[in-house]
Amino acid sequence: MTIDDQKKTAAEAALEYIQNGDVVGVGTGSTANYFIDALATVKGKIDGTVASSEATAERLRGHRIPVMALSQVGDLSLYVDGADEATKHLHLIKGRGGALTREKIVAQVSEKFVCIADQSKLVDRLGEFPLPVEVIPMAQSMVAQQMVKLGGQPQLRTGFTTDNGNIIIDVRNLDIENPVELEREINQIPGVVTVGLFAIRGADVLLLATDSGVEKLARK
Ligand code: A5P
Repeated sequence: MTIDDQKKTAAEAALEYIQNGDVVGVGTGSTANYFIDALATVKGKIDGTVASSEATAERLRGHRIPVMALSQVGDLSLYVDGADEATKHLHLIKGRGGALTREKIVAQVSEKFVCIADQSKLVDRLGEFPLPVEVIPMAQSMVAQQMVKLGGQPQLRTGFTTDNGNIIIDVRNLDIENPVELEREINQIPGVVTVGLFAIRGADVLLLATDSGVEKLARK
């Protein structure tokens, strides 16, 4: 099975969490795109969606799936999204697509966060993948210095602006022994909008596609 086949399999497995009349939070990225395509096959069952990025909203509308503003709907029962890295504790790194802030907002208001991923995303310890941090542009050098103090190597994602008009600093080489603590620490730096660690509010379920099927890891 190719990685793309695995992403599609994990995405399709998430359909089982959809209930009649749900407004579904929808993530961003290639795995989330497979989920959107799968969602189109059951769109009559749901009332609509909340998108975590402009790209996702566009793809949803392309399938004629209603996209609602979060302020219109309040809390959501379900959020489905991919990840760049995931641990068996369901802590994640997200943000390669740059949509981490809206993703974190939607995850926060959702009762259940189902993460969909191919098996390459499962790691013992987070941090092999550079950690994305969304930053207010004027704070770029100050936040970069703080990342160096934490032991990381910050790099501006060039030619990229988030949906919120901010920049992304990708931080390599961080020693992420305690993701919850590090998320709190980076959250407190002025100018940081969002850090791509999803540990304080991690996933509730990880659907991990392997060659032998979809493995389900659930929060205990
Ligand atoms: C988007 O900002 C990210 O958080 C994505 O969820 C993440 O990059 C996963 O993307 P893929 O599904 O394309 O691997």
